[in-house]
Amino acid sequence: MSAPNNSHDPVEAHALNPDEVARMRAEAMEAVAAANSLDQLKEVRIAHAGDRSPLALANREIGGLPPAAKADAGKRVGGARREISEAFKTRQAELEEERDARVLVEEAVDVTLSFDPIPRGARHPLTTVAERMTDIFVGMGFEVAEGPEVEAEWYNFDALNFLPDHPARSMQDTFFVEGPGGAHSGLVLRTHTSPVQVRALLDRDAPVYVVAPGKTFRTDELDATHSPVFHQLEGLVVDEGITLAHLRGAIQVFVERMFGEGLRTRMRPSYFPFTEPSAEVDMECFVCRGASVGDPDAPCRTCSSEGWIEIGGCGVMNPRVLTAAGVDTERYSGWAFGLGIERTLMFAHGVKDMHDMVEGDVRFTAAFGMEI
Ligand code: PHE
Repeated sequence: MSAPNNSHDPVEAHALNPDEVARMRAEAMEAVAAANSLDQLKEVRIAHAGDRSPLALANREIGGLPPAAKADAGKRVGGARREISEAFKTRQAELEEERDARVLVEEAVDVTLSFDPIPRGARHPLTTVAERMTDIFVGMGFEVAEGPEVEAEWYNFDALNFLPDHPARSMQDTFFVEGPGGAHSGLVLRTHTSPVQVRALLDRDAPVYVVAPGKTFRTDELDATHSPVFHQLEGLVVDEGITLAHLRGAIQVFVERMFGEGLRTRMRPSYFPFTEPSAEVDMECFVCRGASVGDPDAPCRTCSSEGWIEIGGCGVMNPRVLTAAGVDTERYSGWAFGLGIERTLMFAHGVKDMHDMVEGDVRFTAAFGMEI
């Protein structure tokens, strides 16, 4: 700090002379007027009205003046500072008003726009695949039949020629429905869609061409390839002169429409109590078309390098079943098939894990582009 300067001449204190104060004032007023945003105005205030602004520094000089000059300089500097402060307040108010008006436009919310208060789900791919499968058969002239999921044991087993001690009836596969007090109810959760064959035949007269898509149940643990609840598409034809060749043809048309032109199908001997002969239906692997068989360098994940993919079971109707359903076996014959809908979805869309199909995550269903 410098020593008091008693010989200080106010006229010579440059910062306090009237022209200089007027210049500082004019400069400040110009800067305030030129400030185009609140941020800019803040900088202007620091520069022209802050503690280290030229006028604030000039103001400090006043203390060192003799009393007479003090009042004069004080009036001049104080007046200039008040005017700047007023100008600052006015500009601040203008800029705030502009900002508020802009925010009202920029951040406007149209409260009249419609919105969906309940997020929409999506159709499950099993449903859409089942419909596609069904449509293929409807296109061949089949009609759609239905039956109950809680089914009489008679339809699920007896009418289909399962003898009372057939292993499929045992507790290992079948969900039995308990009657009152734990009594035998005679009801099961249907283990396949084949009971619909019998219902369809009892409901209508031959000729019969039906498909029955639906839910089926078996006491399997949920894992990547099994689920206690799954779906099948049953098919049944009963007419005069029906042979295994018609069955081959119907399956061939289905596979080509569902998976691609030119894919071959084959039948492997099997056993079901309600068909004779019985077969498992395979289709050619639509990815490798058999090329991966015996070629360790190009394994196929879709068919595990088997070249063939199993899609269901089928066979010529056992006359015992036709008789149980009241059909004249002298005149009519028929065949049936059961296709796995989960398997079809897995192969048609590359779904690898059963968990995805049963968990009901809308992100899974929406991924198929099947929103309603
Ligand atoms: N119902 C049999 C199953 O679930 C499939 C099948 C249907 C076989 C029709 C032959 C005829 O395995």
